[in-house]
Amino acid sequence: MTRKFPYEFIGEIIITQEQIHERVNELGRQITQDYEESDNLLILGLLRGSVVFITDLMRKIHHPMTMDFMSVSSYSGSESSGFVRIDLDHKTNIAGWDVILVDDIVDTGYTVKTVRKLLLDRNPKSLRVCALLDKKERHKVEVPIDYLGFEIPDYFVVGYGLDIDEKGRNLPYIASVDLAKYTK
Ligand code: IMP
Ligand code: MG
Repeated sequence: MTRKFPYEFIGEIIITQEQIHERVNELGRQITQDYEESDNLLILGLLRGSVVFITDLMRKIHHPMTMDFMSVSSYSGSESSGFVRIDLDHKTNIAGWDVILVDDIVDTGYTVKTVRKLLLDRNPKSLRVCALLDKKERHKVEVPIDYLGFEIPDYFVVGYGLDIDEKGRNLPYIASVDLAKYTK
C-alpha cells in the first residue's frame, strides 16, 4: 500500500482546479438558461466517474432538478470494445422528463452512444449529453455532446472523479498518467 500523495504515477496537470471551477460555472449557467422552461429536469449521471463533476455542476444549476445514476461498464480493460453492460439502472421513470446524461469522459464514444439509445427508448421529453472531457480524436462512433467541459488530447487522465483502476478519483485537478510509473 502506497502512502505517497499525490499518486506517484501522476504525469502533469492538464486542467487545474481553477479552470475546472470556471468551466463548471459556465456550464451551470448555460444549463440554467436552456432549461428555464423545464418542469422536470433530471441530471442522470454515469457512475462512478461523473460523481465529482455532478456534485459541483448541480449546485450551479439554478433551477429545480432531481438526480439519478446508472452504472455501466464497457468490456475489456482500458481499450473499449463497444460492448456496454448495464450494472445498475436508474430508478426514475424518465418518460416525459428533460434528461441530461452526464459522463466524465467520452473516449471511443461507445458508452454514451449505447446509453443514449437505451434512454431514448424510454421516451424522455428531451435528452442531451454533458461530458466533462472529450478525447475527440479517439471517437469511433459519432456522439452528440451538447455540453462539454474540455476537449483533451489522447492522454490517459485521472482526477476530479476519473480513475485508473479506481485510483486517482480524489485529485482535485485533471492530470495525465505517467504509464511508465504506473503499476497495478
Ligand atoms: P468510451 O465508451 O470509450 O467513450 O469510454 C468512456 C469511458 O471510459 C469513460 O466513462 C471512462 O470511464 C473511461 N475512460 C476513457 N478514457 C479515460 C481516461 O483517460 N481516464 C479515465 N477513464 C477513462
Ligand atoms: Mg466512466
